Amino acid sequence: MSQMHVEGQLADNIGYLLISNPKKFNALPQSGWLSVQPAVNKLLASGARVVVVKGDGGNFCAGADISEFDVVRRNAETARVYEASNVEAFAAIRECQVPTIAHIEGYCLGGGFGLAAACDLRLASQEAQFAVPAAKLGLGYPVDAMADIVEAVGAQNAKRLMYAAERFTTAEMKEMGFLLEVLEDSAALGHKVTELAAKIAQLAPLTHKATKTTVRALRSGDFASAKAASDATFDSADYAEGRAAFREKRAPQFSGE
Ligand code: COA
Repeated sequence: MSQMHVEGQLADNIGYLLISNPKKFNALPQSGWLSVQPAVNKLLASGARVVVVKGDGGNFCAGADISEFDVVRRNAETARVYEASNVEAFAAIRECQVPTIAHIEGYCLGGGFGLAAACDLRLASQEAQFAVPAAKLGLGYPVDAMADIVEAVGAQNAKRLMYAAERFTTAEMKEMGFLLEVLEDSAALGHKVTELAAKIAQLAPLTHKATKTTVRALRSGDFASAKAASDATFDSADYAEGRAAFREKRAPQFSGE
């Protein structure tokens, strides 16, 4: 396997999407962004009921690999192609049919921040650091990526992140609403994320899908899909199982059907 890789690992119905390029704090080249969607699809095909996005070696992701920008993102024409790969990676996370959790430690910068913003839930260890330094490089962000950031922190905070390109602490990102929870260290973060992921993985997949589709519809306007996803829960075997389990005072066993 090459030094840089994006790969999925499955454990107890929890899919882990691992971003790895440790020598560059997991900054991803274009080929890395292009590996995200296939890796997520593979995890879903293997039965993942929740996907945890995490970086290798104590950092989340330092964004796009700037060293290849002179070639692959050198002007508007090449940037359009580059950004299609970037946008595809964010969409794979945002539109993933199961809940997604960002497990954030160390650097969470630029495109790494974008990946985290595309996740449903974000938890971080105390020492993590956040920034979107696009204005230091002089490049603009794609609409979908910006929409994720605005959704996560509101328009004013999104503009502050972009305009000043400052580094923010976990306390500041929690205050902005970006982080669900801050844990004291890497071990506590790992424990908490696994516990939360396991809880989600045990519950009804079609309800999760309906929740995700409905929250998403508030942005996309696709209320028909939200209604269809909600309707599907009521016709599902899992709904019958949920009611039976309630009657029989036992834990439900959901199949996703
Ligand atoms: N793209 C390419 N290379 C990167 C990178 C990125 N996004 N982030 C880090 N690296 C590389 C550095 O160039 C350096 O390579 P070298 O050893 O060959 O010189 C190596 O990773 C270590 O980084 P370094 O800057 O020496 O470490 P540091 O601890 O002083 O700073 C960062 C770490 C992450 C704060 C700093 O590297 C940085 O600001 N990176 C850019 C982040 C960014 O702007 N991301 C958004 C891109 S759109």
